[in-house]
Amino acid sequence: MRTIKFGIIGCGLMGREFASAAARWGHLLDLDVKPEIVAVCDKNAELFGWYREHFPSIKQFTGEHKEMLANPDVEAVYCAVPHNLHADLYRDIVAAGKHLLGEKPFGIDREANAKILEALQAHPRVFVRCSSEFPFFPAAQRIVKAAREGRFGTILEVSAGLHHSSDMDPHKPINWKRMVKFNGAYGCMGDLGMHTLHIPLRLGWKPKNVRAILSKIVKERPDGKGGRAPCETWDNATLLCTATDPRHNADFPLTLTTKRISPGDTNTWFISVKGTACSMEFNSRYPKTLRTLDYVPGGEQAWREEDLGYQTAFKSITGHIFEFGFSDAILQMWAAFCVELAHGPDAAAFGCVKPEETALQHALFTAALKSHKENSVVTIDD
Ligand SMILES: NC(=O)c1ccc[n+]([C@@H]2O[C@H](COP(=O)([O-])OP(=O)(O)OC[C@H]3O[C@@H](n4cnc5c(N)ncnc54)[C@H](O)[C@@H]3O)[C@@H](O)[C@H]2O)c1
Repeated sequence: MRTIKFGIIGCGLMGREFASAAARWGHLLDLDVKPEIVAVCDKNAELFGWYREHFPSIKQFTGEHKEMLANPDVEAVYCAVPHNLHADLYRDIVAAGKHLLGEKPFGIDREANAKILEALQAHPRVFVRCSSEFPFFPAAQRIVKAAREGRFGTILEVSAGLHHSSDMDPHKPINWKRMVKFNGAYGCMGDLGMHTLHIPLRLGWKPKNVRAILSKIVKERPDGKGGRAPCETWDNATLLCTATDPRHNADFPLTLTTKRISPGDTNTWFISVKGTACSMEFNSRYPKTLRTLDYVPGGEQAWREEDLGYQTAFKSITGHIFEFGFSDAILQMWAAFCVELAHGPDAAAFGCVKPEETALQHALFTAALKSHKENSVVTIDD
């Protein structure tokens, strides 16, 4: 068993999700690699208590990421910090020769992303990926498989989205995710968009142009100190793109939606692919259900629902008849990262987001901002 010694920079929501996945690594079967968390770094030392309590393997607690990067025991880093810090911290991590799973959007804007990718070119031996867990839901994996087998025929249309209702409540106090300085001009696109793009980009369905409609719904929020603060970021985004199906060299509409104010939605991630020979849909609201419509000319057109249960890319102790959820997707994503780190890029049948895919994401979101501002269709230059 190869042990990869990890440091975590950013011990908030996502830092804890990774630590929790590492703690239940025994859930996975037949792997010859496992993570061990040996160091954590956060500016807020109050967060260390939970890590101290649950992870005796952690020997270093620090508020300075450079101190952690100087630790020879740390081989790889998971970095989950606000977007304005991605460029500086990711570059420092890579320059220190540590492997990296970074968080999206992988740079606050296109310029920051370009700087990160430049640093990667200077350190080609370092393995770097960006996080995106939803494609590891079993039904999403079946859609990927179907696409790779060419089962859809000619693609008619694809839509993918991630919708939340987390900001429906206008009385919810503001935090860094609603401030341009920390979160960036992309707003909800930067927060949620990579999740919608991972599968389309991996399948080669690259957007060529975009018409974006961005909405700012709640313009002010309590500042948590008795006053009010401007809420500057985009709440909801609808992106209508022309994408090309490389199999048939044919264009189709690709619709991507990222919403923070979507009534009733709690982390609703979905993808729908409609084709001339087959259509498939998955929505995390029904976490085990894959909907499929196979079509032969003149034949019936009937949607079929199949409950896949826990049929995962990486085998686990959970039987296939049970349900799969968010923390399972995180665990599967981490398995993909560790397997690729240990055995080389593409050792996992479906891997985490590649740095070049984050660059395509930035090209799209930069074009989307322009499209909304100019009320026009913008060609995506990459
Ligand atoms: N993959 C997902 O599903 C998912 C979900 C939520 C957030 N994210 C991403 O994760 C990242 C972090 O988001 P979060 O929700 O965990 O935020 P969070 O606010 O809960 O945690 C961020 C942490 O970073 C710490 N921090 C700030 N500056 C630091 C520095 N210089 N050095 C060390 N630590 C520092 C903060 O103190 C905080 O604890 C973002 O990039 C976000 O887009 C991903």
